[in-house]
Amino acid sequence: MGDLLAGIDSRQWTERLGPGTVVLRGFALAAAGEMYAEIERIVAQAPFRQMQTPGGFRMSVAMSNCGDYGWVTDASGYRYAAEDPESGRPWPVLPAAFRELASRAAGAAGFPDFAPDACLINRYAPGARMSLHQDRDERDLSQPIVSVSLGLPAVFLFGGGKRSDPVSRVPLTHGDVVVWGGADRLRYHGVLAVKDGAHPLVGACRLNLTFRKAR
Ligand code: SIN
Ligand code: FE2
Repeated sequence: MGDLLAGIDSRQWTERLGPGTVVLRGFALAAAGEMYAEIERIVAQAPFRQMQTPGGFRMSVAMSNCGDYGWVTDASGYRYAAEDPESGRPWPVLPAAFRELASRAAGAAGFPDFAPDACLINRYAPGARMSLHQDRDERDLSQPIVSVSLGLPAVFLFGGGKRSDPVSRVPLTHGDVVVWGGADRLRYHGVLAVKDGAHPLVGACRLNLTFRKAR
């Protein structure tokens, strides 16, 4: 039995949610400590902020970015920007460890050669949520989205190509990675309000990193 199971990590397994979508359970567990330290360095340079939607609402999720481009929203719309609008400086560099993990996760999901140029960092305090939306601000929709969850658990909502399509509820915990692309690239998704709690590494919040090829 020992030999049979050698090399199998019981903390890691894969669940398929669609033709182009997998949940890689525990995929980021080994890297989580280093990733969290990198996030702390990034947000020391580009602090978390709650952006305004084009409709004038303040998002409950606080955001920062690293990489060549960062996703931003304000009264004039959603877009990718090479500079942090708060400081006028380029976003912090995408750490090599992030790039490597994102490209390995994409490869495991059937998307070889994924080279992200943007990483959006979402911070969900208890009560923060993200309503159903599509990720469609990226130029090349043949490239997948790689989404890494750290800290408090949350329920990920995964719908279809139309806002009114049925939605599955997928619990995500610390270290889980979701990859969606191909036929699933424009599926609606969101996150239910995060419940109160304290995570041993991350504290009283959920962090989510989404890696994209923006340009
Ligand atoms: C997003 O859609 O940008 C975030 C998804 C998540 O927080 O899991
Ligand atoms: Fe999204």
